[in-house]
Amino acid sequence: MRIQVLASITLLVSIFVAMPSLYGSPADVESRIDALLARMTLQEKLGQLSQSTAGYTRSDAQIRNDVRAGRWGSIMNLRDAQQRAALQRVALHESRLGIPLIFGRDVIHGYRTVFPIPLGQSASWDPELVRKAAHIAARETAAEGIHWTFAPMLDIARDPRWGRIAESLGEDPVLASALGAAMVRGLQGDSLDAPDAVAACAKHYAGYGAAEGGRDYNTTWIPETLLRDVYLPSFAAAEKAGAATFMSAFNDLNGVPASGNVFLLRQVLRKEWGFDGFVVSDWNAVEEMIKHGYAADSTDAAVKSLRAGVDMEMVSTDYYDDLPALIAAGKFDVKLVDESVRNILRVKFRLGLFERPIPAPPPASAMLAPDALAIAQRLATESAVLLRNEGSLLPLSKSIAKVAVIGPLADSRVDQMGCWVADGQPGDVRTPLAAIREMLGPDRVAYAPALKNSRDNSQAGFAPALEAARNADAVLLFIGEEQSLSGEARSRASLDLPGAQDQLVDEIAKAGKPVVLIVLAGRPLTFSKAAAHAEAVLYAWHPGTMGGPAIANLLFGDAVPSGKLTVSFPRTAGQIPIYYNHMNTGRPPRGGSGRISERVAPEGDTSRYIDLDNGPEYPFGYGLSYTTFQYSNLKLSSASMAKGGALTVSADVTNSGKLEGGEIVQLYTRQLAASLTRPVRELKDFQRVTLKPGETKTVQFTLSTASLAFHNERGELVNEPGMFQVWIAPDSARGLRGEFKAID
Ligand code: GLC
Repeated sequence: MRIQVLASITLLVSIFVAMPSLYGSPADVESRIDALLARMTLQEKLGQLSQSTAGYTRSDAQIRNDVRAGRWGSIMNLRDAQQRAALQRVALHESRLGIPLIFGRDVIHGYRTVFPIPLGQSASWDPELVRKAAHIAARETAAEGIHWTFAPMLDIARDPRWGRIAESLGEDPVLASALGAAMVRGLQGDSLDAPDAVAACAKHYAGYGAAEGGRDYNTTWIPETLLRDVYLPSFAAAEKAGAATFMSAFNDLNGVPASGNVFLLRQVLRKEWGFDGFVVSDWNAVEEMIKHGYAADSTDAAVKSLRAGVDMEMVSTDYYDDLPALIAAGKFDVKLVDESVRNILRVKFRLGLFERPIPAPPPASAMLAPDALAIAQRLATESAVLLRNEGSLLPLSKSIAKVAVIGPLADSRVDQMGCWVADGQPGDVRTPLAAIREMLGPDRVAYAPALKNSRDNSQAGFAPALEAARNADAVLLFIGEEQSLSGEARSRASLDLPGAQDQLVDEIAKAGKPVVLIVLAGRPLTFSKAAAHAEAVLYAWHPGTMGGPAIANLLFGDAVPSGKLTVSFPRTAGQIPIYYNHMNTGRPPRGGSGRISERVAPEGDTSRYIDLDNGPEYPFGYGLSYTTFQYSNLKLSSASMAKGGALTVSADVTNSGKLEGGEIVQLYTRQLAASLTRPVRELKDFQRVTLKPGETKTVQFTLSTASLAFHNERGELVNEPGMFQVWIAPDSARGLRGEFKAID
């Protein structure tokens, strides 16, 4: 008897362990694709390669008829869960082959629970927290029957004039790779067919952030060495993390639009990285190759895009409309169509759509659950960056008699959520004004918006604001940008405060009270005039649903700022592009002012402006705390590193202040001479430490040869021997420096 029981337990365990996912084993998927493909007509195949958007150029009835005819493989932006379920039933039960639709949606930084914009999230330097937020976004999205989000956005952004810097993870490839991969893991979880997982989409592949002039959709010229060292790593990390889909970008890259770019889509993505999901074009990007001057007409656009490796066409319909005639005439190989159908069906199977195409209606608790709001608040807290705190004005005391809260952004639910919010509800948002009133009591909080919005040029509302400041013990002055000033197609030629905000700060300064500037924006702004009137500056980005409590807690000491910048802040737009990992040039500035004086410029003929100090207003990696941290005792395990070897670098970090705080410790290197010029600093790793007052931790990093590799002029990843500098640092402008030699 005992043996039989044991045998049945073993059998059960083996079945469970071997149990494939919903869709079966990978081999099952390929055989199921073969079987389905063999039954598909050309029109049905081209239908799978086509994505329509709801509520755009076709009525719901027309989309239903189309789906019945197998016209679409995917529908995006269908807002209502019941409508999605109804349309899926049409696909499953009324189309000839019953292939489920894949529903897509832009869930860029949260579905119903809205997290800080990605540029804000990146300032947390906290991949695990970012992953948790992405998982919550997936949970809420999947609960509504949406299978696929067009996120994470992985474009490296070095130009804050570009409105989409708001959606980016900053200017550094190592940090963007760590955070982007965390977002993919959060969205897709351990198994794509789980009820709380959605397919991720690594976008915009690739180089979109290098738009000339920071002007959205503009041309990009990126030499292959720079492309491979800076712009591609975050996409490679997303692919390695298992991103199910990629999105080809709008921009032309070195003369070839990304959506027709064989080098990007076939050579790098498929051959080098082994990607086996599918690529969707960005909105209309296939058709736009005509405007680029790369395609003669829609047929040419369809041929060049599908040949290059764009599997699914978003919104434009060149594949469906133009390829049948070419294929019939033997001018286009249907095998390319089959290959793209395979890629799309493979993702649909992996999502479990054939087994569970329509999820059960979500419980009311699926949205805005307590854990979701807690993560949203924590991420908003960790994203905020303390840029100045003269005289340790912050944190303010909660027993303060009266504060004046001034500026329209202090109480603007929509603006606080930031760009790319499709399903977040303003009614869910907790504003800073509400949170401060809740914390101090309404009697101790005087509010004066002073302006209608951030673009308002009228000074009619200044008087009550100045009065409120005069009657207060401290002023919390909210400045920045409305939500509509960043995101797609929102490039700005100036980074100055919009509207009459500078004048407002000047006016409020007349009250002679301590001023804290809280900046809510989707990009780095140039606001040094305003900052000169303030003792403290907290940069809180667009912090999402729970931004209010996060900001209130930071201002009054229930939380300690730990965020650090992930983009360089220019002093003026005239400095752009400005980024920390720049080359040294043959005439590097020798520090100090570049200003012309009556004597010959002390700087001599060096790479500088004669009318502006060098360097950023605030550097990459910079951020203050309410406590202070001292770095000491840098140690290297060796003065040399053999090829294929590694060495450890450590330093002691001490909390030399009076409050517990978090510090993001950064590791940078510089290769002093190589076959190509190398950046003056490159981030290689980072660690977050939390220290009590007086506590010291030894922070240790391991540097491997692989982490020092770069792409040479032939696009090969190489290590070259030579001298390296290494820093353990609080930001990209300071730190403890050591040296070592990499030997062949
Ligand atoms: C937009 C954006 C892209 C988005 C897509 C679908 O134009 O470029 O990021 O995912 O279209 O909305």
